[in-house]
Amino acid sequence: MSENEPLLSVRNVEKHFPVTAGLFKRQVGAVKAVDGISFDVFKGETLGLVGESGCGKSTTGRLVTRLLEPTGGAIDFEGRDITHLSQGKLRPLRRDMQMIFQDPYSSLNPRHTVGAIVGAPFRIQGVKTDNGVKKAVQEILELVGLNPEHYNRYPHEFSGGQRQRIGIARTLALKPKLIIADEPVSALDVSIQAQVVNLLEDLQKELDLTYVVIAHDLSVVRHISDRVAVMYLGKIVEIAERKRLYSSPMHPYTNALLSAVPVPDPKARKERERIRLKGDVPSPLNPPPACRFHTRCWKAQEICKTVEPPLESLASGHSVACHFPENAPVAATADTAGKD
Ligand SMILES: Nc1ncnc2c1ncn2[C@@H]1O[C@H](COP(=O)(O)OP(=O)(O)OP(=O)(O)O)[C@@H](O)[C@H]1O
Ligand code: SF4
Ligand SMILES: [Mg+2]
Repeated sequence: MSENEPLLSVRNVEKHFPVTAGLFKRQVGAVKAVDGISFDVFKGETLGLVGESGCGKSTTGRLVTRLLEPTGGAIDFEGRDITHLSQGKLRPLRRDMQMIFQDPYSSLNPRHTVGAIVGAPFRIQGVKTDNGVKKAVQEILELVGLNPEHYNRYPHEFSGGQRQRIGIARTLALKPKLIIADEPVSALDVSIQAQVVNLLEDLQKELDLTYVVIAHDLSVVRHISDRVAVMYLGKIVEIAERKRLYSSPMHPYTNALLSAVPVPDPKARKERERIRLKGDVPSPLNPPPACRFHTRCWKAQEICKTVEPPLESLASGHSVACHFPENAPVAATADTAGKD
């Protein structure tokens, strides 16, 4: 694989969950949890994936790791089409792609010791270790900042932050290439969050990992991401290099999300007025037509309700799906979109 080829490539991927009713479970609709998204993840980078609750972030994570079967589109991993691989063929791939989950409490079996939890992947995948599973597990515990002597302890004997370290240790056991971290710190105390994010960063350098880090808000992924994708109701509305996204966001929704991020410097705070979005996120069962954000967008015009804005590259490394993007280079603004 060449340097510039993506490790993971997602093209027009959809996940529609059927909604059934009645005795015969007739399908009466579908939750369009993910509705045609495309993005690449390059080796060694961290892509942040951000959006409000219910916009399809976790579903995206489960699709790319093939814990879910896509309804449409294509997923390539290391140049190989994995979209509809059978469970049997997926097994070796499970080593390469791992997920870290939000809740370090419910994702660890309370009846198993840390040694059993972190060692399970070795046993399941039948991996041979040089000095036995116990030694390998203890090395990983050390790597994530846990005391290897705590091998025989149970999850309830650890704090939230330590439990998330156990969750991370478990994903590292098989030396994955890609880790999807689904809200890895949102269940933790703010004081612990930075430590876990730093750990993820250190591990990335040490183990040559590629990450997709999922979060509700833009502050969590700010330091760790190389690029950030913003999702709204099953769509990616903007994707850009980190600096560009935070300094000159183009999608009104990104702007609204950014305005909600606390700014420590009071001077900077004045400049960035808080944008309060009206209403709730509409249901993915029946999303608004054309631009899905039009029911809440203060810039919405007639065209936004009739023509879906495609995700287009308006500047190098910066794509946005909006008829009237903000901060756009002059030549690229789509003001003409409303004209005939
Ligand atoms: N198995 C399922 N069956 C039906 N609908 C589902 C299923 N899983 C998720 N959904 C729906 O799909 C939409 C997207 O859910 P998803 O969990 O991907 O969102 P999310 O962005 O991760 O949200 P959160 O920030 O709350 O974790 C939601 O409306 C959710 O209710
Ligand atoms: S396309 Fe229209 S409604 Fe959608 S974000 Fe842009 S301006 Fe707002
Ligand atoms: Mg989620």
